[in-house]
Amino acid sequence: SGTKLFQGKKILITSGPTQEAIDPVRFISNHSSGKMGAALANSFADQGADVLVILGHGAVKPQGSNIQIIEVKSALEMYEVVKEHHHKMDICVFAAAVADYAPKNVAKEKIKKAEEGMTIALVKNIDIAGTLGQEKKPHQIHVGFALETENEAFHAKEKLMKKNFDLIVLNSMKEAGAGFQLDTNKVTLFSKNGNELTSEILPKAQIAQLILQEIKKLPVEI
Ligand code: PMT
Repeated sequence: SGTKLFQGKKILITSGPTQEAIDPVRFISNHSSGKMGAALANSFADQGADVLVILGHGAVKPQGSNIQIIEVKSALEMYEVVKEHHHKMDICVFAAAVADYAPKNVAKEKIKKAEEGMTIALVKNIDIAGTLGQEKKPHQIHVGFALETENEAFHAKEKLMKKNFDLIVLNSMKEAGAGFQLDTNKVTLFSKNGNELTSEILPKAQIAQLILQEIKKLPVEI
């Protein structure tokens, strides 16, 4: 039929890297390009949803109509924006690569070169998905990602439970053609109700469509 899968549903997607400032010219970040998040945003919009993307600085912007973008830099900024909008959402997808740590102090001036090495004290960032997972209502769906380099399936399933996700998408980092930056990915999806599905290496647009299909199968009435 011509019915769209997510007609009128409200979707929030976090995407891209966070930047944690060290001083006015330096930061800690990671390799996320935002391509996976953009592909998801476009797929949801194609399926009739109203999409809000909370986007890390410099990440790829989704193009479709019905997509609103709010740009942020740090994990804390990302958290504050996600928190403000969370209660209105039917589905939240946490595709951002959030820095787990941030510099304890942000220097006001550019840090001068020292003669010896230097150490930057770090503090733990807030866990955006984990914190909002505790506020999730029975009619809301949370989808997480996992980026692991060892015991991948074990850690992914642990994150599924710990962060109260309904579905988690594990990236196959050991596979050429999967993960950060690339236009393709290979993933395994683990759902809360025990379903498991591994994809081929596919364009991120197709990976996004696969994720949407699995979300549709979840036993949650949104
Ligand atoms: O952007 P691309 O270049 O296209 O690459 C896509 C991607 C590999 C970045 C993406 O598919 C992905 O896996 N994103 C999550 C990466 C990550 O941070 O994984 P994690 O295992 O550290 O975190 C687990 C989950 O908790 C994720 O849903 C993450 O968004 C969330 N999280 C993590 C830490 C934190 N402080 N807050 C969070 O919300």
